[in-house]
Amino acid sequence: MFTVLISRQEDFCSGQDAISIFLILSICALLALGLSSIIFHIFDFSTGKLTSFSPTFEGCKGVRRHHLRLNSSNSAKPSSCKKNVIGYYSETESIDITVNQLEKLTHAIFAYVEMNWDGSLRFKTEMAKQKFVSLKNKTKSVNSNLKVMFSIEHEYDGIDLYWKYAHETDKFNYINLLSDIRTRFNALNHENQHQYVISITLPAARIEGWELAYDLDQTLEYVDFINVYSMDFYGPWENRYGDTAGPSAPLFCGYGGRRNFNVDHTMQYYVCKSKKPNKFNIAVPFFAMLWRNVTGQFRPGIDVIRWVGLKDGKAEGNAYMSMVAGEQARWKLDNATWDEKCQSSYIWVPETRTYLTFENKRSISAKVKYVKENHLGGVWIWSVDMDDENNSLLNALSSNELCSNSSGSRPVYKC
Ligand SMILES: *[C@@H]1O[C@H](CO)[C@@H](O)[C@H](O)[C@H]1NC(C)=O
Ligand SMILES: *[C@@H]1O[C@H](CO)[C@@H](O)[C@H](O)[C@H]1NC(C)=O
Ligand SMILES: *[C@@H]1O[C@H](CO)[C@@H](O)[C@H](O)[C@H]1NC(C)=O
Ligand SMILES: *[C@@H]1O[C@H](CO)[C@@H](O)[C@H](O)[C@H]1NC(C)=O
Ligand SMILES: *[C@@H]1O[C@H](CO)[C@@H](O)[C@H](O)[C@H]1NC(C)=O
Ligand SMILES: *[C@@H]1O[C@H](CO)[C@@H](O)[C@H](O)[C@H]1NC(C)=O
Repeated sequence: MFTVLISRQEDFCSGQDAISIFLILSICALLALGLSSIIFHIFDFSTGKLTSFSPTFEGCKGVRRHHLRLNSSNSAKPSSCKKNVIGYYSETESIDITVNQLEKLTHAIFAYVEMNWDGSLRFKTEMAKQKFVSLKNKTKSVNSNLKVMFSIEHEYDGIDLYWKYAHETDKFNYINLLSDIRTRFNALNHENQHQYVISITLPAARIEGWELAYDLDQTLEYVDFINVYSMDFYGPWENRYGDTAGPSAPLFCGYGGRRNFNVDHTMQYYVCKSKKPNKFNIAVPFFAMLWRNVTGQFRPGIDVIRWVGLKDGKAEGNAYMSMVAGEQARWKLDNATWDEKCQSSYIWVPETRTYLTFENKRSISAKVKYVKENHLGGVWIWSVDMDDENNSLLNALSSNELCSNSSGSRPVYKC
């Protein structure tokens, strides 16, 4: 499967605006798709026009250029897990992709590719390309159940889109894009006897009105599932949100101006609006967030949310530290403090004024329970390759509890 990350960030190759794409390997049944036959309609911010193009692949140097060709291969059985376990692979982590990991996912998403404004695709780095080749190799030996999306010159069985900085004025264009892909996939479904998957990522709701850029009802007509960006509620950012430290994805708690900054609040919004809980997956961050120069509690008695001293207006720390990096930095990750209200784990070291929040078995178990109780579709992981060397978080997540026994399909929230 591949994810399309459409953003307005600078293109690192040419210095022009670029549409970023995440090529994703989903772990579905594999089948043929001539991607070169798909025309994407993308809104061009620079000209204000919708343009159509066939994706082509181009290296950074722009020398070699060829159309994506996708081939068919064996279809696999549907996943044995009753919930979605969607694993993204990031571009930066050096931990290798293993068959063992892939066997625990229902979809693997490969996030290493960017789209240029002219519609050409490229791997962000040489390492990304190597990882892609490795993932492709590994999925060949996964015997099952897994849906793997191959992209460039390979098979895939779906597409995952993330329009990172969509505005309300983009709503119509985004729906056009989804509708167009769905139409083409439906034709291909028929032709290839295969169900192609479309998924998208939607932002946390009721924070800055990001959710208003999407037409939820229409979106649900075209997509198979939605990954809700229900994380990064706190982080050592270089902006005004960086002055409060807390868990990336707290299930419940919220304080002061951040009353809505939790998974539950966002999921309630989407489920109550759509009445389709099992279309939505919650995020499970496989990274730790580290803050330095952390001072007092947010309020007396609230230990898990803390104030951060800024330097030149910026928080210092590490927003996306892998679990391996955490261990190498000698954090005692198995000795975390538990916050009952947030359902989150953290380590606060007063001597050095450093603070670390992260998921562990206990918080993951709480999230699994939450997914089941609220009849949600499942989870999505950012990212599988940030786990520790034993895949402890992935193992905790893909427990029998999550995968056995599907829960109901009706909203449970009091809407
Ligand atoms: C992938 O497999 C091919 C042949 O099976 C092999 O030549 C190649 O080295 C492998 N690449 C990686 C990155 O594992
Ligand atoms: C597609 O499959 C055919 C036959 O199985 C093979 O000859 C061809 O090389 C494949 N193309 C790609 C791009 O993998
Ligand atoms: C810590 O934060 C304070 C503001 O609360 C700031 O004055 C100081 O420079 C920071 N120290 C470091 C080492 O960043
Ligand atoms: C575990 O954490 C507690 C509270 O943060 C601390 O007092 C204790 O020393 C830690 N134990 C180890 C073995 O690090
Ligand atoms: C991984 O497993 C090995 C063997 O069981 C163990 O020694 C090691 O401490 C584990 N590492 C982590 C990070 O849990
Ligand atoms: C299935 O899940 C429901 C709700 O989560 C639970 O009440 C029920 O006991 C479970 N059944 C089995 C057989 O695990």
